Amino acid sequence: DSATEDALDPFALVADELSILANKLRKMVVAEVPKLASAAEYFFKLGVEGKRFRPTVLLLMASAINLPASPLSSLTTDGVSSKLPNSLGNSGFQNSSNNMRSRQQCIAEITEMIHVASLLHDDVLDDADTRRGIHSLNFVMGNKVAVLAGDFLLSRACVALASLKNTEVVSLLSTVVEHLVTGETMQMTTGTDQRCSMEYYLQKTYYKTASLISNSCKAIAIVAGQTAEVSMLAYEYGRNLGLAYQLIDDVLDFTGSSTSLGKGSLSDIQHGIVTAPILFAMEEFPQLRELVERGFQDPGDVDTALHYLGKSRGIQRARDLAADHVKRAVEAVQSLPPSNDPSVQISRRALVDLTHKVITRTK
Ligand code: FPP
Ligand code: MG
Ligand code: MG
Repeated sequence: DSATEDALDPFALVADELSILANKLRKMVVAEVPKLASAAEYFFKLGVEGKRFRPTVLLLMASAINLPASPLSSLTTDGVSSKLPNSLGNSGFQNSSNNMRSRQQCIAEITEMIHVASLLHDDVLDDADTRRGIHSLNFVMGNKVAVLAGDFLLSRACVALASLKNTEVVSLLSTVVEHLVTGETMQMTTGTDQRCSMEYYLQKTYYKTASLISNSCKAIAIVAGQTAEVSMLAYEYGRNLGLAYQLIDDVLDFTGSSTSLGKGSLSDIQHGIVTAPILFAMEEFPQLRELVERGFQDPGDVDTALHYLGKSRGIQRARDLAADHVKRAVEAVQSLPPSNDPSVQISRRALVDLTHKVITRTK
């Protein structure tokens, strides 16, 4: 029935916490100068928050690894207080677990701010008019304000990050920002050989898409004082989910919500961006190589590429690779230390469910 379905819907499980998070974010992006304030709040307003995919994953991960670890470990600031003896009794445990959850919510807030900042800058770079079904910020307020709004969100994310007083987490999320910039630059500056390289494509995809979710999953584990093993499994889940997500995104750019080729927006190929389906097709049809090398810029290149892609197993192989990453994400969740706690079990099932939603989605 629909009640049990709701209980298992990953998004429904954290719906209440997500709306608290949305309100918190609106407060966090308030700026002194009116222009900056209205620019920074733009994508945090009711109805334009997006799917909140990342916060959902992170809050579910927080619950999935909520194991009876050392009760005081959540108070850890650079490992100092974790060495304190547990002398707080039950109320100390209660406080520390509330504190742990709010630190994990803080990671989710930071992640969302970094994500939105990168989208604001991306829309400037891509000269995009729309985002999330409304005009992009650069379209409404111009490139200059959009760039500054992105910088502002990033700086607010940094302040929030500092408040956690955990240098390992600072290092993780700063590296994510480096990865976003690196991935974006790799995409913008691909050379002839790099365009034809699956390895280059996958590296770029990790930087642009998977690094943020994987490293913030890891940060969720670290602020909870989890072991290196649990942190690594959280990271692996995020990495594989992120890669699968992007591979499906690349397929949908060709197929849209149908299964037939050419029904998608074809935005990547029209911008000379080479993705997995084409790279797989190129293995079967080497004639594609010269088109790929010149970034499909000659007249007829896009149609020719689509023709060969249609005859090849490119789309299917990209889907298979996504399925392979989904399998690895599921394995990471299943490798977490066993727990009988029902809320831990439900959250783990929701994380597994999310991987299937990622791979079967049609938009
Ligand atoms: C969307 O890509 C863009 C990204 C995932 C990252 C963009 C990163 C930067 C612009 C570097 C600056 C980063 C920060 C943190 C300020 P897309 O254009 O392929 O997809 P979309 O436009 O369709 O969403
Ligand atoms: Mg873009
Ligand atoms: Mg872009």
